[in-house]
Amino acid sequence: QSDKKIDLTPLKKAGVPIFFIMGGPGSGKGTQCEKIVAKYGLSHLSSGDLLRDEVKSGSSRGAELTKIMEAGQLVPLTVVLDLIKEAMLKEVAKGSKGFLIDGYPREVAQGDQFEAEIMPAKLAVFFEVSEETLVKRLLKRAETSGRADDNMDTIKLRLKTFNEATAPVVAHYEKKGKLARIKAEGTVEEIFSEVVKHFDKAIKA
Ligand code: AP5
Repeated sequence: QSDKKIDLTPLKKAGVPIFFIMGGPGSGKGTQCEKIVAKYGLSHLSSGDLLRDEVKSGSSRGAELTKIMEAGQLVPLTVVLDLIKEAMLKEVAKGSKGFLIDGYPREVAQGDQFEAEIMPAKLAVFFEVSEETLVKRLLKRAETSGRADDNMDTIKLRLKTFNEATAPVVAHYEKKGKLARIKAEGTVEEIFSEVVKHFDKAIKA
């Protein structure tokens, strides 16, 4: 439980659909989310971006977060969930039609706590990509991203965390019948055409 009191009433009242977007580091979550936003007008919240913004803000917990992210580990659940709640409330106040929660959940408990405290997700989308492709994409991005975690040592640690903590989340939502597993090795457009099939169905339902 978080020790900060965040009033979630407006968020619950809005009752807009929520989509979890999952996949290994470099699986194309951010890339596909941009396209989903353009087509469906949903609000895109990336847990990694929210954490990097928190670091940039110079807050007292920023230095601690940087250390964890550079080690490719998961930051504490309540830190991420509070940042997401606050960002969702801001979007709801602007009239959000629904949410892409990108990079979340990364462990089973994150999803369970989110759904218990906020509301159940409509669908958990999982971008399935081989480790070889993930490493290739991240090393390419490293040439220009300036991200502290886009280096071979941290990439290995991010993959380890993904395999240990996040892979069970995929099985968790599969069991619940809420998983959309998308093979994401092809081109951005090929992958998006699969994404659209799932979103068209989920948004109509
Ligand atoms: P986060 O920022 O979420 O990083 P990540 O999961 O490692 O994912 P990326 O942002 O690197 O990649 P992506 O899947 O969005 O791919 P992208 O579209 O950019 O998290 C960073 C850290 O924050 C974590 O390690 C952790 O410490 C912490 N954190 C975050 N969330 C947390 C949580 N919930 N709980 C605890 N801690 C958390 O694509 C990658 C590259 O590939 C790009 O260059 C892109 O142009 C290219 N590309 C994309 N699609 C294709 C394609 N089809 N073909 C060729 N290239 C492609």
